[in-house]
Amino acid sequence: MSDLTLGVLASGSGSNFQSIINNVESGFISAKIAVLITDNPEARAIERAKNHSIETLVIRPRDFEDKPAYYSQIAEELRKRGVTLVILAGFMRVVGKALLDQYPNRVMNIHPALLPSFPGLHGQKQAADYGVKLAGCTVHFVDEGVDTGPIIIQAAVTAYHDDTEDTLGERILKQEHKIFPYAIKLYSEGRLSVKGRKVIIKGDRTETPVINPPLN
Ligand code: GAR
Repeated sequence: MSDLTLGVLASGSGSNFQSIINNVESGFISAKIAVLITDNPEARAIERAKNHSIETLVIRPRDFEDKPAYYSQIAEELRKRGVTLVILAGFMRVVGKALLDQYPNRVMNIHPALLPSFPGLHGQKQAADYGVKLAGCTVHFVDEGVDTGPIIIQAAVTAYHDDTEDTLGERILKQEHKIFPYAIKLYSEGRLSVKGRKVIIKGDRTETPVINPPLN
């Protein structure tokens, strides 16, 4: 039994958060979710947390003097609850050093593009507008850059010439819901280590779920 305790940060709908909840409840991930922290009092993620009796904190940047004060408070709330891995599930901010210093290589993010392509906001739109034929999503450890940290898992989907942010985003999101829980599971089993830029996954290398586009 893993003693992994998750703290989730989310700003919006929280469908990735929901997928993590479902995978914890089914036993696929051996962990507990201690708290949801959001910067958005309107986030649908709050309702999802309530439905599963997960404590929620709304912590807004505007209530703090500066970015270090904001992220120190978040780190403090996580630490108080014994959080050992921080999950960014659609948290639409660049996380501050004050939090990263407390959780080195222990903050995971999901990004809706095949990094290092299309970092930052609206990865799905960037990919659709660019006209790539392969798009996807990435789970990575968070460092101080924007979507630059060591990559844990990626999944690819086909992109079509007439895709929009929404149509491509929907296809990508389905894969996000699979690879994020999978990355957390690997972490909970102690199978991830970081060497420089690279994440080493212990065990059978064929397990990494790289999803190939259907060719027909
Ligand atoms: C997801 O597509 C996630 O990859 C993206 O926001 C969406 C949140 O959806 N995150 C980023 O763009 C971070 N830069 P959700 O709230 O339904 O999980």
